[in-house]
Order: sequence, then structure tokens, then C-alpha cells
Amino acid sequence: MSDMTLDEALYTTRAMRRVRPDPIPDDVQARILDAAIRAPSGGNTQGWRFLLVDDPGVRGRLAPIYRDCIDMLWKTIYADRISAMEADPDAPDSIEMAKVQRSANWMAKNFEVYPLLLFAFAQGDPTGGSIFPAVWSAMLAARAEGIGSTITSVLMFRLEEVLKILEVPPDEGWVFACCVPMGYPTGRWGVARRRPAHEVAFRNRWGDPLGFEVPGPLWKG
Ligand SMILES: Cc1cc2nc3c(=O)[nH]c(=O)nc-3n(C[C@H](O)[C@H](O)[C@H](O)COP(=O)(O)O)c2cc1C
Repeated sequence: MSDMTLDEALYTTRAMRRVRPDPIPDDVQARILDAAIRAPSGGNTQGWRFLLVDDPGVRGRLAPIYRDCIDMLWKTIYADRISAMEADPDAPDSIEMAKVQRSANWMAKNFEVYPLLLFAFAQGDPTGGSIFPAVWSAMLAARAEGIGSTITSVLMFRLEEVLKILEVPPDEGWVFACCVPMGYPTGRWGVARRRPAHEVAFRNRWGDPLGFEVPGPLWKG
């Protein structure tokens, strides 16, 4: 097991897309999954299934679909943000959007490189609230092992084909939650940049100030 502090894992687990093709050993995969299934679920129903994909043949069939889905994402859900970025490339939001797009495009272009894909499926989970705690625990456990990961949902654009490739039974109510590509990073870990807590949290009544401010990350490494 890792001796990384919880604070370090919490502060530095982020979308880590640039990875090497080196395989993730089975004992490491076991620790990731065993941590994931400790997560909570409504009524402890544990309505989850995880599908680990390391077969290059299966990854190779998914890769062109992933690339097509990312193209669709930019043209649909992100179209307005991309137009705003192109109109004013020096605005802080544009700089952030450009970074996310470059990184996400790297993943799409290099999808075959990821040695392991973790697919998460939920059953009887109408809000999705009973699957993402487990997914995030898997990502924290992976981080503690020095493995980078990213939640991706974009395969939903061509989900039918993806489910066929993965041979997910169509009649058991399993709903695709996300795919988490994993691998050993080529770069370094850093603290995720976010809007500070006092700008996104209130106290007692909507809009009332929190009563304290957190100007920068409280964990500095
Ligand atoms: C529900 C969800 C869906 C996401 N889908 C994708 C995706 O399809 N492709 C991708 O490259 N990143 C995806 N991401 C990753 C986000 O882009 C990333 O978490 C965000 O930009 C913050 O990155 P950072 O932690 O490195 O700052 C997704 C994240 C979440 C939470």
C-alpha cells in the first residue's frame, strides 16, 4: 500500500492524460479496484461493475471511436466555449480552455497508448451518485501508485458501438458511467487550479458569504 498522505492525493489527483505505454501490473490493478469498491453507494447496493481493458485489440477498436467522439464534443457541447476562445484567445477562460483542448486532443490522438482503461457501469443509480465516489476512489488509489488517470464520458456519443465491442449485456440495466484511461505519466504532478472555495460556497442562505476566504491551496506539498 502507498504511504502518500491523503492531502497530497486529494490535491494532486487531476486529469493526467500524457502517459507512457508501460503496463500496470496486476497487483497494482488489484489495489486500485479494492480501494474503489470500498466507496459508498445508496443503501450499500453496490450496483456497479468495472471492466478493465488492457487487450490491445479491444483498445485499438475503441481508439478511432474515441477520436470521432472528441471531434463531436468540440462541435457540439463545447462549440460556444471554443468560439469564445477563438474570439479572445488571451482571456483567462480562453487560456484554460485551450489547455484542456490540447490535452484532450493528445488523449484522442494517442488513445492506443493507455495500457489500461477502466470502464464503470451502474445499475439502479438514477442520479449517478452511487458510481462516481467509487470511480474517484479508483483515481485517488491510482494516484497513490504514481498512475495518472482521467474521467472521460465522451464515448457516450457512440455508446451503442462501444457497448457491443465490450460485450455489455443489453438487458441487465447496466448504464455506462465513464471510461478512465490510466497510465504512468510522462510529466509531473501539480495542484489542480480551481476557483477558490469562498467564491463557490455560501453559508446558511444562498449568496451569503462563507465567513472565511481561502486565497490559495491550503496544501502546498
Ligand atoms: C464527468 C466528467 C466527464 C469528463 N469527460 C472527459 C472526456 O470525455 N475527455 C477528456 O479528455 N476529459 C474529460 N473529463 C476531464 C476534465 O476535462 C478534467 O477533469 C477537467 O478539465 C479538470 O482537469 P484538471 O483536474 O487537470 O485541472 C471529464 C471530467 C468529468 C468530471
